[in-house]
Amino acid sequence: MASQPQSSTNIPAPIDFDSIKKLTTTEAKAVDQLIINELSSDVVLINQMGHYIVGSGGKRLRPMLLLLSAKALGGASDNHLLLAAVIEFIHTATLLHDDVVDDSDLRRGKESANAVWGNAASILVGDYLYSSAFEMMVRTGNMRVMEILSKTTTAIAEGEVLQLLNCNNPETTEQKYLEVIARKTAILFSAATKLAAVIAGASTEIEQGLAQYGQHLGIAFQLIDDALDYKASKDELGKNLGDDLAEGKPTLPLIYAIQNSSESEAKTIIDAIKNGDRDAFNEVYAIVQSTKAIDYTERRADEEAQKAISALSVLPDSEYKQALTLLALFSVQRNY
Ligand code: IPE
Ligand code: IPE
Ligand code: MG
Ligand code: MG
Repeated sequence: MASQPQSSTNIPAPIDFDSIKKLTTTEAKAVDQLIINELSSDVVLINQMGHYIVGSGGKRLRPMLLLLSAKALGGASDNHLLLAAVIEFIHTATLLHDDVVDDSDLRRGKESANAVWGNAASILVGDYLYSSAFEMMVRTGNMRVMEILSKTTTAIAEGEVLQLLNCNNPETTEQKYLEVIARKTAILFSAATKLAAVIAGASTEIEQGLAQYGQHLGIAFQLIDDALDYKASKDELGKNLGDDLAEGKPTLPLIYAIQNSSESEAKTIIDAIKNGDRDAFNEVYAIVQSTKAIDYTERRADEEAQKAISALSVLPDSEYKQALTLLALFSVQRNY
């Protein structure tokens, strides 16, 4: 892949996500086919909802990370493809559940599944996707794979419950927030890249390096997701802005803004978190802007992305390793 041109003003050139994606086109098609095959159930609603959410796209970032890691280690085997589908299934299950918990009605630019079919259907079909993912992973016959994935889903559930406990609590610290995002988001990224090494039979050093890459990248990714909930364009993001405030989620932009604003401004944010007040969005956003809380969140994300890139030093040089580096930068630069 051509290296990214740097502009003379030191502003990083935009990362071309589509050209990175092209490095795994063939494998990604096979993964999509696996996903479609697994969605075929004789229970009509499972088919319908599964195809609805999977068909509405998404970046497919997690399978891409697994496939690029596999290719950086010599190539993507059938088990790599299967596990890439498993990871996307688990991700999709968490989205179905997450939109119920967050009461979100827009996902991937379309009405969310819970908005179309209701909460009960979303929870149950999310459970179906989790169970299918486990059925698929058993086919690898690899105990380490099963251990990693079962620990991962347990940690995701812990992260979601921890987040629930922090909701409406304006005293949540940056440390507590980081514990939540490490579990609810980063661990799945880490599982994706680590599993690539496990299936490739790579050394412990490479396995740990890739696991760390995924973990730091996942944290960067969620930090930016939480920034985008305040500053993105709704059409580009395909999700509603302000959902976090409406749920009273003390994400880093708010935690930082509380600590770096006047007493009365801090009180505005504290009250909005306590009450989960979407109507306070504009007022809260103005304080988030004036305290440069988004800049701080992006800086933290950039630090995590740099740690992710450092962890890639265990890999031999290749265009796939270069693509993993660029994906870490993309995760911070992205607008969707
Ligand atoms: C959304 O993940 C959930 C988070 C962890 C922030 P993505 O932004 O990867 O969602 P899709 O798959 O591209 O829709
Ligand atoms: C990520 O958190 C959710 C999961 C890891 C399941 P968010 O609630 O911020 O994700 P979005 O913004 O709804 O995609
Ligand atoms: Mg959500
Ligand atoms: Mg979000």
